[in-house]
Amino acid sequence: MYVANKKRYENMQYNRVGNSGLKLPAMSLGLWHNFGDVDRLQTQKDILFCAFDHGITHFDLANNYGPPAGSAEKNFGRILREDFKSYRDELIISSKAGYYMWPGPYGEWGSKKNIVASCDQSLKRMGLDYVDIFYHHRPDPETPIEETAQALDLLVRQGKALYIGVSNYSAEQTREITKVFKELRTPFIIHQPRYNMMDRWIEDGLTDVLAQEHLGAITFSPLAQGILTDRYLNGIPEDSRAGRSSSPFLSPEKVDETIDKVRKLNDIAKKRGQTLAEMALAWNLQEPTVTSVLIGASRVSQLEDNLKALNNLDFSEEELKEVDKILL
Ligand SMILES: NC(=O)c1ccc[n+]([C@@H]2O[C@H](COP(=O)([O-])OP(=O)(O)OC[C@H]3O[C@@H](n4cnc5c(N)ncnc54)[C@H](OP(=O)(O)O)[C@@H]3O)[C@@H](O)[C@H]2O)c1
Repeated sequence: MYVANKKRYENMQYNRVGNSGLKLPAMSLGLWHNFGDVDRLQTQKDILFCAFDHGITHFDLANNYGPPAGSAEKNFGRILREDFKSYRDELIISSKAGYYMWPGPYGEWGSKKNIVASCDQSLKRMGLDYVDIFYHHRPDPETPIEETAQALDLLVRQGKALYIGVSNYSAEQTREITKVFKELRTPFIIHQPRYNMMDRWIEDGLTDVLAQEHLGAITFSPLAQGILTDRYLNGIPEDSRAGRSSSPFLSPEKVDETIDKVRKLNDIAKKRGQTLAEMALAWNLQEPTVTSVLIGASRVSQLEDNLKALNNLDFSEEELKEVDKILL
C-alpha cells in the first residue's frame, strides 16, 4: 500500500492559474503516453508515486489516451482506487473531449452531445464523481462556439467539473470563447497549448490574450516529446518515442532535422550546470503566462531529472539571446 512522502510539499513551487483560486504545481504530469494497457502497470505506479512524492499534485488525462483509447483513464482509475484514494482532495485531475473517441457523428469535436457523453465516460473509467479541470481538446470548425461553451458550462453546473479549460485554441478562438464564458459566468481559467523551444507559436498573440483575460497556460510537450533532452544525442534508442514504430507523433526524421540545434542547446545547458531537459523546462517557465509545464515520462529517472529544473529557473539576458540565436 502506497504511503505518500511526508515532505512532498517542501520543494515544489505552486503557481496561481490566472486570477482564479486554483494553484497548480510548476510541473504537472501528463498520461498521454506510457499509461496505456500496452505499458507495465508497476512502472505507471512508480512514476505517479514519484510525482506525488515530489509535490506534483496535477495529473492530466484525456478520453483518448492509451493505447487503446480510454485505457490511460481506466488504469489511472485503478491506481487511484488502489493507492491514491485517501489523497483525492490533494489531487487536481483533468480530462478532455474533442478528438475521435467513438464511431458516428457524436464521437468527437465540440457538440453538446459529444462533450457531455464523453465526460460521463471519463468519470466512469476513472471512478470519479468529478474532474477538477475539464477541457475542450481542440476547436471545432463546425459547431457554434456558444454550444461548446454551454456544454462545458453545463458540466460545471452538474458538478462534474470544477474548472474549465480549452486546448489548441488560437488566440482569436480563445478570445471568442472567453466572451461566451464571461456571459455564462463559467469558471474558465486555463488554456493548454503546445509550447517549447522548438514551437513558439503562442508568443504570436495567444500569450497576449491570456494575459489580458487573466487566464493561465499549462504547456504541453515542453520537451518536444523528448527532442529537448539528451535522449537522441547519440542516435535513436529503440525504446524511445521516436524509435517506437507504434508512435506516429515523433519520427526519426524529425529528430534528424533538429539534432544540430539540439546539440548547440545542450552546450548552453552544460554551461548552466543543467541537463538539456532541465534547461528546456526552466526556459518554458520563464514565459509569464505559463502556470505549469506539463511533462511526460516513460521512467522514474526522467521525472527525477526533470524535477531538478526547478533548482535553477533564472536566465541571463545573454543566455536567452544565445538560445534565440540558435532557434530563430
Ligand atoms: N492538449 C493536447 O492536445 C496535448 C497534446 C500532447 C500532449 N498533451 C499533454 O501533455 C503531456 C506531455 O506531453 P509529452 O509527453 O509530449 O511531453 P514531453 O515532456 O515533451 O515529452 C515526454 C517524453 O520525453 C522523454 N523524456 C522526458 N523526460 C526526459 C528526460 N529527462 N530525459 C530523456 N528523455 C525524457 C520521454 O520519452 P521516451 O518515451 O523517449 O522515454 C517522455 O515520454 C501529455 O501526457 C498530455 O497530458 C496534450
